[in-house]
Amino acid sequence: MLETNLDASAQAAYVLVRVRLKTEKSMAILPILTAPDPRLKKKAKPVEKVDKETRKLMDDLLDTMYDAPGIGLAAPQVGVSKRVIVLDLSNDDEDNKPYCMANPEIIWESDDIRTYEEGCLSVPEQYAEVKRPNKVKVRYLDQENEIRELEADELLATCIQHEIDHLEGVLFVDYLSSLKRNMMIRKVKKLVKDGASA
Ligand code: NI
Repeated sequence: MLETNLDASAQAAYVLVRVRLKTEKSMAILPILTAPDPRLKKKAKPVEKVDKETRKLMDDLLDTMYDAPGIGLAAPQVGVSKRVIVLDLSNDDEDNKPYCMANPEIIWESDDIRTYEEGCLSVPEQYAEVKRPNKVKVRYLDQENEIRELEADELLATCIQHEIDHLEGVLFVDYLSSLKRNMMIRKVKKLVKDGASA
């Protein structure tokens, strides 16, 4: 054991470093805003560079998304008005395949359209069919600040478009009739109120 070779002060310092490392690695689960919070309707600002702070935001978004659980989360959903999204469609805890994207941009979309039943962590327990292009190509900055392009189809394409919408202040309910949308928002308000008083 390494500890036994150290004197008391060195041991204390070693423990401190370990605690600090552990804290930096620790999970940060952030509260998720729900509709009709006005912060969800704001257009988010581009990230200048994916630095330590942006990487921390990406990690926190992933922790929050896995905890929810969800398959995508955008920074505005935790009250951070930055163009950062995370996604992970794998449903295996042992083998996560996260995508972290800063300043994601759709640079191509297919003509063929697909309908998916969408939900959203900011509109809990509400689902509705939304039509979107079946394939998209997205350009973004990854965790290392490298420019990347990804061609996605089906659920991943839907998810990317849904999360990028959040950066524009658009929720999936905005594609529905105002009647349906208002009904869903009312249900969410009641859910949040009942949850808070439970
Ligand atoms: Ni959403």
